[in-house]
Amino acid sequence: MVKKNACIFISGRGSNLKNLIYKSRENNFPIKIKLVLCNNQNAYGLKYAKKNFIPYKLINSNSRMLDNQILNILCKYKISIICLAGYMKILSRRILKEFKGKIINVHPSLLPKFKGLDTYSRILKNKEIKSGCTVHFVNEKLDSGEIIVKKSFFLNSKEDERSLKIKTQKLEYLAFPEALIKIYRYR
Ligand code: GRF
Repeated sequence: MVKKNACIFISGRGSNLKNLIYKSRENNFPIKIKLVLCNNQNAYGLKYAKKNFIPYKLINSNSRMLDNQILNILCKYKISIICLAGYMKILSRRILKEFKGKIINVHPSLLPKFKGLDTYSRILKNKEIKSGCTVHFVNEKLDSGEIIVKKSFFLNSKEDERSLKIKTQKLEYLAFPEALIKIYRYR
């Protein structure tokens, strides 16, 4: 199997990156992680790129040259899929257009419910009985692209943000790889 070259965008902890690095070692996993892009020099997740000898690039999300910088490096590494794994910035229209249908994101709710930030607190406030995660294609509208994989669990009465995050991320570690497999199954 010829693996697709992937770039993972991160901003923080990078636990999904860590999981994807681990999964991508499997022979029949569809992607090879060629590059990590990060907009935060203190991101813990950079540790996983360094430890696994994956090239990484720090980007300044306030730079006016950001799009050119990102597109040049994606071209240099022949990237054919972008995985947003906790990347906290909105991608420009230009990047969305250049990589149309080739950018996916993981969101910590059952989309279309609870798009946007502060997801866990809103889920608890709303007294949801079920929650989970969604992997979806990225388009111009926030957290609104076509859904690839959704996974859910039931909340209990003692649920707090911490427990909700742990349960949600546990499902993300299954959903993200599953989504990649699903995307490339028939290609
Ligand atoms: C994930 O839980 C995802 O739902 C959200 O950002 C979080 C990133 O976590 N988009 P990590 O950096 O992969 O640990």
